[in-house]
Amino acid sequence: MFADLHQLSHHAAWRRQLEMLLESAGEGIYGIDLRGRCIFINRAGAEMLGYSADEVLGRNMHYLIHHSHADAALMPVHDCRIFKAFKEGQGCRVEDEVLWRRDGSAFPAEYASYPIRDGETVVGAVVTFTDITERKRTQAALQVAHAELERRVAERTAELSTANLQLRQARDGLRRLSAHMNSVREEERAHIARDIHDDLGASLTAMQLELNWLRQRLDQQPEMLAHIDAALEIGATAMGAVRRILNDLRPGVLDHLGLWAALECLLQDVQARGGLRCSFVCPPAVERCRLGREAEIAVYRIVQEVLTNVQRHAGAGRVALLARALDRDLVIAVEDDGCGMRVPAQPTSFGLLGMHERARAIGGELSIDSEPGRGTVVSLRLPGVLA
Ligand SMILES: Nc1ncnc2c1ncn2[C@@H]1O[C@H](COP(=O)(O)OP(=O)(O)OP(=O)(O)O)[C@@H](O)[C@H]1O
Ligand SMILES: [Mg+2]
Repeated sequence: MFADLHQLSHHAAWRRQLEMLLESAGEGIYGIDLRGRCIFINRAGAEMLGYSADEVLGRNMHYLIHHSHADAALMPVHDCRIFKAFKEGQGCRVEDEVLWRRDGSAFPAEYASYPIRDGETVVGAVVTFTDITERKRTQAALQVAHAELERRVAERTAELSTANLQLRQARDGLRRLSAHMNSVREEERAHIARDIHDDLGASLTAMQLELNWLRQRLDQQPEMLAHIDAALEIGATAMGAVRRILNDLRPGVLDHLGLWAALECLLQDVQARGGLRCSFVCPPAVERCRLGREAEIAVYRIVQEVLTNVQRHAGAGRVALLARALDRDLVIAVEDDGCGMRVPAQPTSFGLLGMHERARAIGGELSIDSEPGRGTVVSLRLPGVLA
């Protein structure tokens, strides 16, 4: 008997503890029976819904607080996830629905519902819920901020790609202009060369003929002869200079004998000027190949500039031009054993820039392989030009 009393008071104390726990919880907590009627609700829950606990007890909770979706469309009880879950003896956790207050307003809620069991039998469900208005607001603000960020990134990316496109167009324009300038310059050189050849060359030849005529008639006057010989000598030197200038303006050998002979002549000239041992290697299969006028002039000018650089900067003892075939690509490399150089990532000096531009204008690619103290190799690769 005493034992029972003790049991009872223990039970009552336990119930009191539970009540206190429920009342003190910040979350709303209510229980429903199998028909969905409220069998208890804590203070926080009732307050969140705008009722007193007594007003809620015995009421069907679905019709009271869970009857409609956020857009006010009705939620039939057979769609209610709380009911579904506990009818199947399962729990559920939901955070995309609203609960309705007494004043007809709704708030976004997160709720969890678990079945109440008496032994094996489900006798109802306990539901905990919280008002997640703040969380949703923060989420929405975050989404807006994120969308804004994405919009700005997209805007900036679009701006950058437009700028990039404009830059590329400007660069292409400059390339075309540079190629055009090169061909205009070559035409002008050819024009000047023609004029010099026709006017100056013809005049010098005529002058030499006249002097020779005079010489034949004055062979008894040694003093006069000496002067005429001196004048003939000056004429011959002037002819030599004119020929050199002509050759520089428009390498005639390029027109007459083709690229390979012209390149060989260039190397011979370099060697003749002294100091450098030059070699030229070109296999017969490559030697037979003609590239067309434009390309041949470009290759000639590139090699000319490379050789000028070797003479001016390399302090080399030896320079070699090697032409070879790589499948259908033609590779022309000029190697020197001079002081080498630090190769700039982007050439800015006009000699190197001009070589790159000329190479690009004829569909080729120029590369420089060098390091201080290790000599220099300048390679020009022309893809697909060999038959
Ligand atoms: N074969 C080489 N060996 C060592 N250094 C070289 C060689 N070729 C080029 N250089 C270096 O690269 C620099 C740039 O060459 P680039 O032809 O552009 O200009 P430049 O010869 O100085 O002047 P420009 O060609 O306009 O008259 C040279 O000043 C030189 O320092
Ligand atoms: Mg140079």
